[in-house]
Amino acid sequence: MNDTFLRVCAGEKTDYRPVWLMRQAGRYLPEYQKVRAKVDFLTLCKTPELAAEVTIQPVDILKVDAAILFSDILVPIEPMGMQLEFSELKGPVFHNPIRTESAIGNLRRIKPYEDVPYVLETIRLLKQSLKVPLIGFSGAPFTLATYMIEGGSSRNFIHTKRMMYQAPALFASLMTMVSDVVIDYLKAQIAAGVDAVQIFDSWVGALSPHDFDIFALPLVQRIIRELRTCQRTVPIIYFAFNSSGMLDRVKSAGADVYGLDWRIDMADAVDHLDRNHVVQGNFDPCALFGTRDSIYTEVKRIIEGGRYAPGHIFNLGHGILPETPVESAQAMVNAVHEISSKPF
Ligand code: CP3
Repeated sequence: MNDTFLRVCAGEKTDYRPVWLMRQAGRYLPEYQKVRAKVDFLTLCKTPELAAEVTIQPVDILKVDAAILFSDILVPIEPMGMQLEFSELKGPVFHNPIRTESAIGNLRRIKPYEDVPYVLETIRLLKQSLKVPLIGFSGAPFTLATYMIEGGSSRNFIHTKRMMYQAPALFASLMTMVSDVVIDYLKAQIAAGVDAVQIFDSWVGALSPHDFDIFALPLVQRIIRELRTCQRTVPIIYFAFNSSGMLDRVKSAGADVYGLDWRIDMADAVDHLDRNHVVQGNFDPCALFGTRDSIYTEVKRIIEGGRYAPGHIFNLGHGILPETPVESAQAMVNAVHEISSKPF
């Protein structure tokens, strides 16, 4: 197996920097669209043979150094008692948003082996054939809670923050329940064979640093502490999107690797992380709409910015966009491998 990604997670020196892309399996790939034309998105997530097939596609097409399990952060939330739909227009929708004590009382803690067996089966299938490490994942409690409370994607998170400020104990009880689910879910993925896990905190940047300390960070810390007690331990990546103004807090989550978006310069981020944390990122997904030359130059700049970190996994600063030309993603991966394998 190509274990470059895992060695960098562990802070070891490697011959080149590993690279993968958030949302690397997806609509920008014609091969993905072909599979998706046959089934809706949730069915794809729940059919292990198909989910495994689309997980592998970017490994073959882009030559990335890691695969990420094909699923969605909302998959384990549905069996808690939430009616989930992926609408072509609106994205994810929960038809019964959770806004009251009784609604929270009706949620159940999932049993991964009974409630999401297809996720674990996809992992087992992938481990039989993958030649690169497999990354499992979960949403972080705050990000998952925003979907549950808002009923879908949101701009200002008004319902979430109303509960947070008006009924902090109620909000805390929901966050604790979601954290329990995240712990059980990630432990099951680790037992099924994933080589690393990433915790996606896509919307935590909506919080002030102070509220992050109170309402979100302690739960992420608890999840990571719990995962460290597993029989099999794997590297843990924490990706808090839009959080460059509070990296000093983010870095106390206890993760092995911190994901960075493109709103902070890589070299500055490495300094904020005291040059002693492995980093992942942080190429602007829209820079893939540039030319081959502009992509090369930007890759070089980021690679140079990461040189004082104990390790750097090259990635985008957020998910790849559906409109991205495949050749640009390939050019970025090639540039990372080429530039980082020579002295610079
Ligand atoms: O390749 C991979 O990265 C693995 C698969 C993956 C998906 N979603 C597939 C997906 C992963 C890791 C996710 C995580 C996810 N899902 C996040 C965290 C990462 C981030 O982007 O911040 C979030 C916030 C979600 C919730 C979600 N799922 C939204 C908001 C949407 C709609 C927007 C969109 O891109 O369509 C989804 C749908 C989704 N998840 C798709 C895919 C491939 C598109 C569905 C389709 O094929 O129609």
